[in-house]
Amino acid sequence: MQYGGFIIVRQRLIVKTKSMELKTDRLYIRPVSVNDKEAIFEYRSDSETNKYQGWIPQNIEDTEIFIAKTSKELNVPGTWFQLVITEPESGLLIGDIGIHFKDTGNLEVEIGCTLKKGCQGKGYATEALKKVIDFLFMDLKKHRIVTSIDPDNTSSIKLVERLGFRKEAHFVESLLINGRWVDDIVYAILEKEWGNNKTTENM
Ligand SMILES: CC(C)(COP(=O)(O)OP(=O)(O)OC[C@H]1O[C@@H](n2cnc3c(N)ncnc32)[C@H](O)[C@@H]1OP(=O)(O)O)[C@@H](O)C(=O)NCCC(=O)NCCS
Repeated sequence: MQYGGFIIVRQRLIVKTKSMELKTDRLYIRPVSVNDKEAIFEYRSDSETNKYQGWIPQNIEDTEIFIAKTSKELNVPGTWFQLVITEPESGLLIGDIGIHFKDTGNLEVEIGCTLKKGCQGKGYATEALKKVIDFLFMDLKKHRIVTSIDPDNTSSIKLVERLGFRKEAHFVESLLINGRWVDDIVYAILEKEWGNNKTTENM
């Protein structure tokens, strides 16, 4: 039994590190695939829900290009890696998480999260991000995670503050999004600050 358990743990570690497939109590998180294009287009094209986002697809082809441009390999400096959040029972895709592996010694990442409108307000983003952040700090040994938010995006601000991120900066009209200059707030968290938020089942 003990031997069998060891093998299972080893297999889980190998699978996680190569493909970044993560499970939480209610969610299954995995890398995006081209087969997800319709599901992603459905909620990402909702311009009202995504009004603070820089990318709003106009059609399925835009979504296909977006998926094709994301890195196929995890942890490559200078690339974005895209995960999707699914409900394991229904198999429904309910959102996504982007991870930008920055060039800064490959010790810093930027993250962003989007949920389908009908799946917001249930704690899914918090649950998924906790697991992803655990993975970034514990498995990939990152030092710092940052995120960039429009000051009017209150749901997003509440989300990162709930996760323990600190507000580090407020840049004024620093981003041109959808033809409009907008302010940008930067939140960050260090590995040593993550501490009590760690989800033990990921260890
Ligand atoms: C940012 C975004 C992902 C946040 O989603 P969210 O649903 O507010 O966050 P969570 O899924 O963690 O849900 C938290 C809410 O669910 C509530 N909740 C309900 N049931 C819950 C449960 N079982 N467990 C935890 N929280 C629960 C919480 O109280 C909280 O509500 P509150 O914000 O009113 O306090 C979402 O607003 C979004 O996709 N916005 C559009 C895209 C965007 O702008 N992204 C940011 C750019 S990077």
